[in-house]
Amino acid sequence: MTDIGLVVERLRAAGCVFAEEEARLLADAAADAEGLESLVSRRVSGVPLEHLLGWVEFGGLRVVVEPGVFVPRRRTEFLAESAAALAGAGSVVVDLCCGAGAIAAVVAARVPGVRVFAADVDPVAVRCARQTLAGAGAE
Ligand SMILES: C[S@@+](CC[C@H](N)C(=O)[O-])C[C@H]1O[C@@H](n2cnc3c(N)ncnc32)[C@H](O)[C@@H]1O
Repeated sequence: MTDIGLVVERLRAAGCVFAEEEARLLADAAADAEGLESLVSRRVSGVPLEHLLGWVEFGGLRVVVEPGVFVPRRRTEFLAESAAALAGAGSVVVDLCCGAGAIAAVVAARVPGVRVFAADVDPVAVRCARQTLAGAGAE
């Protein structure tokens, strides 16, 4: 299956509202036609797009999300931006129950000189957060 139009049709039939965008993202993520078929089949069977891609965009950043980890929601961007607006150089910000680390990532990216710590009880979430926050100056 290489026709992107067919991919869009299958995704739309499965109830994907943003079928065109999802088709483009899946096509970009697939190494070849076989890989794309596998991704589309799993998406049609209900696997979240973000778990297939391995990332989600949040606050303009790429946040790593493995299967089983909560996918950060768009509406949480308001919370993250509000936290960033309250913090300043030298502030200590703790993102408890951080999941994939999306809020911590936005605060670390927006606030120079801030100290950000993120914690979660789920080892898979911690692994995702570590990857997302690598190089961001957050722990
Ligand atoms: C709904 S998710 C939210 C994740 C993140 N804050 C976000 O908005 O994307 C809740 C997270 O809380 C974590 N959690 C639940 N109980 C916890 C606890 N006692 N200590 C640390 N993390 C906990 C879960 O593992 C999960 O990753």
